Amino acid sequence: MEKMLIHGRKPLQGTVKISGSKNSSLPILAATLLTRGMCTIHRVPDLSDIHYMLTILSTLGCEVERASGTVRIRAENIRSETPYDIVRKMRASVCILGPLLGRQGEATVSLPGGCVIGDRPIDLHLRGFEALGATIRVQEGNIKALAPHLKGSTICLRGKQGTTVLGTDNIMMAAVLADGITVIDGAAEEPEVLDLANFLIKMGARIEGAGTARIVIEGVKELQGAEHEVIPDRIEAGTFLVAAAIFGQGITIRQTLPEHLQSVTAALKEAGFRIDITADAITVNNNGRRRPIMIHTQPHPGFPTDMQAQMCALLSTTEGLSKITDNIFPQRFMHLAELKRMGADIELEGATASIRGVSSLGAAPVMASDLRASAALVLAGLQADGITEINRVYHIDRGYESIDEKLNSLGAHIERIKSSSAKNRLGS
Ligand code: EPZ
Repeated sequence: MEKMLIHGRKPLQGTVKISGSKNSSLPILAATLLTRGMCTIHRVPDLSDIHYMLTILSTLGCEVERASGTVRIRAENIRSETPYDIVRKMRASVCILGPLLGRQGEATVSLPGGCVIGDRPIDLHLRGFEALGATIRVQEGNIKALAPHLKGSTICLRGKQGTTVLGTDNIMMAAVLADGITVIDGAAEEPEVLDLANFLIKMGARIEGAGTARIVIEGVKELQGAEHEVIPDRIEAGTFLVAAAIFGQGITIRQTLPEHLQSVTAALKEAGFRIDITADAITVNNNGRRRPIMIHTQPHPGFPTDMQAQMCALLSTTEGLSKITDNIFPQRFMHLAELKRMGADIELEGATASIRGVSSLGAAPVMASDLRASAALVLAGLQADGITEINRVYHIDRGYESIDEKLNSLGAHIERIKSSSAKNRLGS
């Protein structure tokens, strides 16, 4: 496994370009299963989660070509069953269920596992498929879905923890080829859901209301291949905004969509940072007096749970008492123990972390545990005295394209150490 050595307290300055969105690319790549035609997807980031999804699609019989950021896929003759633990290893691959049901009328995938950020149920996905006329059986850890004839229906997708992003994606991808009208109430409003809908519409789907809480889909007979460019990754952008806030002397992130980051820029402004915004760029200056803040994560357009860990790293050295509550994944706090190893003063009570800012963090050997927790450790290392060693960096490579190279281009000093041990494992 690889590790990173972060030489702390190097001032960061300059411009960084944001890659295409991981969480938009994954369902869009799955959606190519819905047509026999050729699909061309641009700005697909070079991440291990993406490679894994492309492996799944190849296993199902798709022709897959990748040339730098462009992926071309043709799903001419495909199977409906994936090898057992393929979904278990990466939760996001559950979004192949909807397109397989829509295209083949059946699908067999393994139940996704839980992961370090918490239990990852799919009851809302399965309830949605049943509302469309599918019969669902769970056998030997596999989900067997059968729907020789999907029929449009009205479905409420909100659960006790609110909306479901991949659940909305899955039901939308099954409904585009169902007979009649499907209404999804309580749909997720994340920009990645709208991006998927825009791709499906280019393929010939009839969808209205994507990006809002109510999506209306009129089923069609078949879909054609299409070309699409994925939206920028708002969580990568948010992570760099926090890096700029922590140790930046004027950093601009480019090729981003500021309207996707309003809750993050609002929180940084409240925390005392100056934020300048243009059509496709955001600049952060940390020349004001930092202030402690209170954050509650919410479904979009609220503050994203995927930015919770990164904010903990920033607030660890913000004087005063800050609180951050994760309402989406109440157990998503694996990063706290590692931040405390670096000197952070954080108490966790239920789903709320109370963070008392310290003057500085100290370098220490720390362990990455999941994608966003790992990003938080990188951010903590940037501001720590000394050299922070982060182990198991394969977690970071699941969701950040060359984060060390991008940060080094801003003035950071991060080394990546290859070790001869086992090949990297995939994230959850
Ligand atoms: C997506 O996961 C993202 N992943 C996650 O990003 C993100 O944290 C999450 O949405 C929330 O925004 C991708 O898009 C690939 P959910 P998803 O279904 O769709 C509960 C990252 O770091 N729930 O919106 O799997 C669930 O337990 C990853 O890039 C049910 O109860 O999340 C959670 O509490 C991590 N039943 C809440 O809903 C269900 O059937 C939101 O989960 C489904 C979900």
